[in-house]
Amino acid sequence: MLEELKQIEAEALAAVANAADAEQLTEIKVAYLGKKGKITAVSRQMGQVSPEERPALGAAVNQAKGAVETAISSRMAEFRSAQMAAALAEETIDISLPGTSLPRGSRHILSVVQEQMEDIFIGLGYSIAEGPQVEYDYYNFEALNLPPEHPARDMQDSFYFSEKMLLRTHTSPVQVRTMERMAGQLPVKVISPGVVYRRDDDATHSPMFHQVEGLLIDKHVTFADLSGTLLEFARQMFGEDREIRLRPSYFPFTEPSAEVDISCFACGGKGCRLCKGSGWIEILGSGEVHPKVLAMSGYDPEQCSGFAFGMGIERVAMLKYGITDMRLLFDNDIRFLHSF
Ligand code: DAH
Repeated sequence: MLEELKQIEAEALAAVANAADAEQLTEIKVAYLGKKGKITAVSRQMGQVSPEERPALGAAVNQAKGAVETAISSRMAEFRSAQMAAALAEETIDISLPGTSLPRGSRHILSVVQEQMEDIFIGLGYSIAEGPQVEYDYYNFEALNLPPEHPARDMQDSFYFSEKMLLRTHTSPVQVRTMERMAGQLPVKVISPGVVYRRDDDATHSPMFHQVEGLLIDKHVTFADLSGTLLEFARQMFGEDREIRLRPSYFPFTEPSAEVDISCFACGGKGCRLCKGSGWIEILGSGEVHPKVLAMSGYDPEQCSGFAFGMGIERVAMLKYGITDMRLLFDNDIRFLHSF
């Protein structure tokens, strides 16, 4: 039986050496080591040998099994790596090609600038108030001391829904809504960023644009407070060495009123193209809240005073980032939007 086993082992090893592929190897494994395999069959005959011969035969069976198993797995490994090499030879991957990039979104420059503005005023202790874009004539005009037929209404050509309702032309109505909400409490200290609408459309005007309104009411609020606040804003937004200048102006809801210029950050005030040679750039309208406006919303002008201001976010963004056409901000051209 030992002789027979030797022969079977030799036969198996030869078959393994001659196997053409992994499939044939598997067949060989079944044929010799499987349940009905030839080596297995020899081990099953163990019972028929004499007890003295048994240990020798057992050892021989184990040795044969081990040898065939080892031969099979090393041949299998050969086939696997040959297969891999063939697959790799066939694949033509050009690792120098650029990868497929996943387009990544970014925030709109107006959102970025709006947040910068909010952060500056939040740093000065202001909170944020909001109001509706579809507004009553009362809040948009009347309560701001712009009664019907007031000629200054013409400065803001409006989109009306009815006699009483329109798209707000500025963020100033939020002043009125805030005063109503605060019901006479002091101090009132808010900014209100948001969308406004006017019948304007050219390179520097859009029918839809954004403003940030500011309102501070307290005891003894003076023009000096307004001036100091806006100087701080100008420096944080446009650079530490900015100066501001206040020019007398007119708004129905402030008295006195001022238009505010900042010293040109492109030329430092010498005069250049950006500031049209003047050294100054206009950025906002402001003033001391008109006593009538305070009184109409329940604040006693004898007991308190306040200042207000309003500025365009597009204008600030255009100045800060050198954008020459406002329409670019709304065209949604990805190339433009990604350039910041
Ligand atoms: N609402 C004005 C506008 O849109 C801007 C403005 C001017 C707002 C003076 C104010 C202010 O609060 O005091 O043209």
